[in-house]
Amino acid sequence: MAPRIPENLLEDILGRLDIVELISGYIPLKKAGGNFKANCPFHQEKTASFMVSPERQIYHCFGCGESGNAFKFLMRHERMEFPEAVEALAKKTGVILPEHDNPEAQRAASLSNQIYKINELAATFYQSNLQAGAAQGSRDYLLNRGIKPETIKEFNLGLATSGWDSLINFLRSKGVPLSFMEKAGLILPKDAGGYCDRFRNRIIFAVFDIRGRIIGFGARVMDNSLPKYINSPETPVYVKGKNLFGLNLSKDFIRDSDCAVIVEGYLDFMIPYQEGIKNVVASQGTALTLEQIKLIKRYTHNVVMIFDGDTAGQIATLRSLDILIDEGINVKIVPLPKGMDPDELVRQQGPASLKSKIEHAGSFFDYKLELLKSRYDINDAHGKSKIVSEMLSTINKFDNAILRGEYTKRLSEEINLPEHYILEELNKLRPGVSFQKTDQAGLQKKQSEINPAEKLLIKFMLEEKDLIAKIMQELSPSDFQDIRTAKIVSVMQELVLQGKNIQPSLLMNYFSEDDASQLVCETMFMPDLSEQEKEKAVSDCITRIKVNRLKSRREHLHLEIKNAQLSGDEQKLNSLVREFHNLIKKGD
Ligand code: CTP
Ligand code: MN
Repeated sequence: MAPRIPENLLEDILGRLDIVELISGYIPLKKAGGNFKANCPFHQEKTASFMVSPERQIYHCFGCGESGNAFKFLMRHERMEFPEAVEALAKKTGVILPEHDNPEAQRAASLSNQIYKINELAATFYQSNLQAGAAQGSRDYLLNRGIKPETIKEFNLGLATSGWDSLINFLRSKGVPLSFMEKAGLILPKDAGGYCDRFRNRIIFAVFDIRGRIIGFGARVMDNSLPKYINSPETPVYVKGKNLFGLNLSKDFIRDSDCAVIVEGYLDFMIPYQEGIKNVVASQGTALTLEQIKLIKRYTHNVVMIFDGDTAGQIATLRSLDILIDEGINVKIVPLPKGMDPDELVRQQGPASLKSKIEHAGSFFDYKLELLKSRYDINDAHGKSKIVSEMLSTINKFDNAILRGEYTKRLSEEINLPEHYILEELNKLRPGVSFQKTDQAGLQKKQSEINPAEKLLIKFMLEEKDLIAKIMQELSPSDFQDIRTAKIVSVMQELVLQGKNIQPSLLMNYFSEDDASQLVCETMFMPDLSEQEKEKAVSDCITRIKVNRLKSRREHLHLEIKNAQLSGDEQKLNSLVREFHNLIKKGD
């Protein structure tokens, strides 16, 4: 929960900064009462619903809900990670971050920086190899594959020649020690001692991170020999599953089109991109990882997957599907015939054909069902049951009950099986829906509408620190029925206990989830009340939350009683009923 950068420094940075000045460096702000407003930079709109509060040092959009402090603004607008945003604002405000007196962190940072520099040098070396007179054959290979000379430049494509130590010699001439070449993954130790180049006789693809730094390389043979690709090993800056090839080039297109097309290979990225389909990223040949999906989520929640039609591609697609749906992404699929990939499709049938396939991408449902039908016999009971259980494992990942309902209905039609069988199987997969599983607090915390009393109380507590202790004498965080309000209250309580500052722009540094900090900002822009009104409102809110607490305890007990009845546990039943009666006596 706690940020790694000490919060007094974050406080220091925010204290020296004016969010109004920062944001007006990006978009024009207009004065509106005590606040400033603008057309929201995070969604399309005609009327200004983006508000900035100089007093609270936060922003909030009433249109799209985007909100936060100065760090968050940079993270969203400049697509920085939290530490980068902190670094940028520390620089701007002249605050010195601890890395500078922490030798270990400094060493790690400088090793990474060294590797970026070495990679940059290696890339220029490989590029010049590809441009050399002797490399006509390699250039022809790329041209034959439909890659234009401009594209070769734009992507920094290069060539590793057949020598054993060409790169070593080049880097040595630039003063790079062998140990660093090894740390960058560019050379390999030889059995006989000494080193040789890792990549030889291959086309070189530079792999960039989202900020355009070269983090590693992929290297392809120019004939049919194996392995087809060799990649950089993991280094301090290159972790394959954390990166998406091409995202540095395509992120703006993905955001503008509100859709990311995910392909597998380097060429599957480059050829469509070259031909004008720009909102693409490549997974580099594996199922998507959670980290990769989180990267995509910075730009869009809509994904179209086009993986190869071969078995490996199908398996990768199925696995990626489940993680994408789990992450709340709206995913569609373009099925390709066996042996076909996006690169070939564009070259054989032109970019318009791929575009139209993307536009007509189907739902996960059709894709997965078709695949399962080809694997199992739909006319056999066992086959049917296999198909149902595999379909349900994905359907179950949808949070939305309406979608689940829709898909189970379609499944029942498609495989000709009464829906109640399917629902029965689905219920087996869903914990917490039957009354066998309610947790101790009995709070099935809701994610949707928040009780206005909870929101208001949070606003009051944030505005008046003394109220926190007072309110906490009457309520505990778990009395708040919404996950977000409960979280905010428990963090506030903890900070007050530690004698820390709880001003809203600082508080949100403690929430890794967006929706908690969004809520903090939202409450800050709720209308202010007079002192008198406020006092009354505080006590009303407390009463309302207490009433809800009683109600949810009653509901919980009710479920437990049902359970005890079902399991025939007389003793437990009696004590529960007694408790229930006591609760009612106390009740509203
Ligand atoms: N890949 C890899 N190592 C391999 C094979 C593949 O890292 N031995 C990764 C590469 O990123 C490759 C992607 O998986 O781009 C997809 O592999 P594949 O479909 O086999 O290659 P293509 O990208 O289609 O390459 P090409 O069209 O040049 O054959
Ligand atoms: Mn290919």
